[in-house]
Amino acid sequence: MKVNTLGLDVNKTEKLVKDLNNLLANFQLYYQNLRGIHWNIRGKRFFDLHPKFEELYNDSQEKIDLIAERVLTLGGVPLHTFEDYIKAGKVPVGKNIHQDEAAVSMIVNSLTELLKIERIILEESDDANDEGTNSMMSDFITEQEKTVWMMKAWLDEKI
Ligand SMILES: [Fe+2]
Repeated sequence: MKVNTLGLDVNKTEKLVKDLNNLLANFQLYYQNLRGIHWNIRGKRFFDLHPKFEELYNDSQEKIDLIAERVLTLGGVPLHTFEDYIKAGKVPVGKNIHQDEAAVSMIVNSLTELLKIERIILEESDDANDEGTNSMMSDFITEQEKTVWMMKAWLDEKI
């Protein structure tokens, strides 16, 4: 087995970098979805939802930076162009959403897609003994599952 400076399998690390870049791209789409609903939300719940969406996009922005810097730590180059983000897109694009339930459902749908990618990386990083990536995925998954629960509670829907 060929290992890099960190002691990680070179081939497995390459695959992890690819998947982390996929997560990065989809997180950027989620981030932009959140900006869209932060700007466009209307109606009687505006004063609750406008700051709530801001809280979520600020949190996403921090996670995006952590993912990009993990890609660099593993010797990769983080995707940074809109062109690449759109190509990797699994998260549905939420355009001109202004109604509250549609906005919250869009958050749930976006997080469902991100969780799928994160679970793949969780498994691969476990197999590669890549604790840094693995613990990052654990934290993201735990936090996002809680957000999904809260969004579903707001929608008065079961998980
Ligand atoms: Fe704002």
